Amino acid sequence: MGSIRLRLVLALILTAEFFLAISLYNSQNNYSLGVQEELDQGLLEQGRIMLSWASPIAAASGHPDKMTAIPCLKDVWICRVWIKRQLVSQEGGGKGFLLPSHSGLMTVSWQGQNYRILTLFHSSDEVNLLIGKPLPNRLPDSFVLLMWEFGRDVLLMTPLILVLIWLLVSTSLNPLKHIRRELAARTPDQLEPIQCQDVPQEILPLIETINELFERVRSSLAIEKQFTADAAHELRTPLAALKTQTQVALRVDNEAEKRAVLLNILQGVERTSRIVNQLLTLARVDPLHQLDPKKLVSLKGVISVVLHDFEGEMERNNLQLIVDAAEDYRVMGYEEQLFILIRNLVENAINYTPKGGCVEVELKQTDSGRVLLGVEDSGLGVPPEERVKILNRFYRVLGHQTGGSGLGLSIVKTIADHHQAMIEMSQGKRYGGFRIEVIF
Ligand SMILES: Nc1ncnc2c1ncn2[C@@H]1O[C@H](COP(=O)(O)OP(=O)(O)OP(=O)(O)O)[C@@H](O)[C@H]1O
Ligand SMILES: [Mg+2]
Repeated sequence: MGSIRLRLVLALILTAEFFLAISLYNSQNNYSLGVQEELDQGLLEQGRIMLSWASPIAAASGHPDKMTAIPCLKDVWICRVWIKRQLVSQEGGGKGFLLPSHSGLMTVSWQGQNYRILTLFHSSDEVNLLIGKPLPNRLPDSFVLLMWEFGRDVLLMTPLILVLIWLLVSTSLNPLKHIRRELAARTPDQLEPIQCQDVPQEILPLIETINELFERVRSSLAIEKQFTADAAHELRTPLAALKTQTQVALRVDNEAEKRAVLLNILQGVERTSRIVNQLLTLARVDPLHQLDPKKLVSLKGVISVVLHDFEGEMERNNLQLIVDAAEDYRVMGYEEQLFILIRNLVENAINYTPKGGCVEVELKQTDSGRVLLGVEDSGLGVPPEERVKILNRFYRVLGHQTGGSGLGLSIVKTIADHHQAMIEMSQGKRYGGFRIEVIF
């Protein structure tokens, strides 16, 4: 049952009918108790009268056999009297009732009929008395009729109650209808908060949560817009340069000059495709596109795969590689992302270290028990004031000859965030160049 309105109406109707049934049941019970109370009063009165008759007889006569029977009162249905444990009177029904052992009122069932029984005992004369009257098995017709009429009236009113409850619930749900209409009329970029006045208290938390979501979507859209604009700008420049160089190449007749221009074009294409690749990587590490669950990843394993890929390049640049990772450490994470993170750090160390220098990759545990991945080189390093900025997208330190898109470290930052890891940058103490640490 998906409709709140229907659920509420049914719940209210069922509750009303339930209480009606309980009230009918209680009325019947109260009525029966009233009848019983009246019966008990009569029995007590009659029991006392009969005891007052029996006591003098019992005291006057010696042996119970010689005693006169005690008359039974008119409307008493069961009546039995014992003197000195000898039955001296027996009238009405209930021959099965034996000498009672204690005094009091009780309800007993005998041959399918309920009886209210009073037993009395006079100790000095040893008189035991038992009188009883049948309890009515069914309610009187007048009472049943009254109850039936009451029930019928309530049932006849049920449709009216139903309509009233329906109207009440519909009115209470009106604010929701307004909100639905308002949201349906919005365009995708209309992410202003929904107005909360007149909204029922119960729905307010939902609206507030939707508004918070709108806020998050708005800021994420703004970031995306800024990013798209930056990306377009970054691509436009090399593409324009490529166009100009191609036009030049077409005009030049000299083979050597043509070759030089074509080499320029090749570099431009490489740089542009690097930007495109990094942009695609950035989109891939977006948390929204992360479907696989995290798993335990061996960092030493990832490092050795990355370093293997760069072997040729290191050799070409005459770079010395130092790996300080005696033990393996495993972190909970996305293997592909960790691969991208380490690749970008090692790639930077190689790119920004002059020929003949060295690159060190370190894996260890910190004093506080966290896993530390450090990459250090013997290059020029990054001035302290630039260190935070290089984590921003498209930011590159001026003066570096090496071509790059300025996206690598922002990718590293995004991945570190996905793994709740910290990034620390400093001047390397061992090799004097740039040192970057990712602490998981
Ligand atoms: N090991 C390093 N030594 C010196 N400077 C570095 C080092 N690593 C990064 N940088 C500086 O930080 C900037 C940003 O690095 P990042 O990796 O984000 O971009 P990139 O290397 O320019 O381009 P790409 O997206 O292709 O990696 C670099 O342009 C460079 O100026
Ligand atoms: Mg880089």
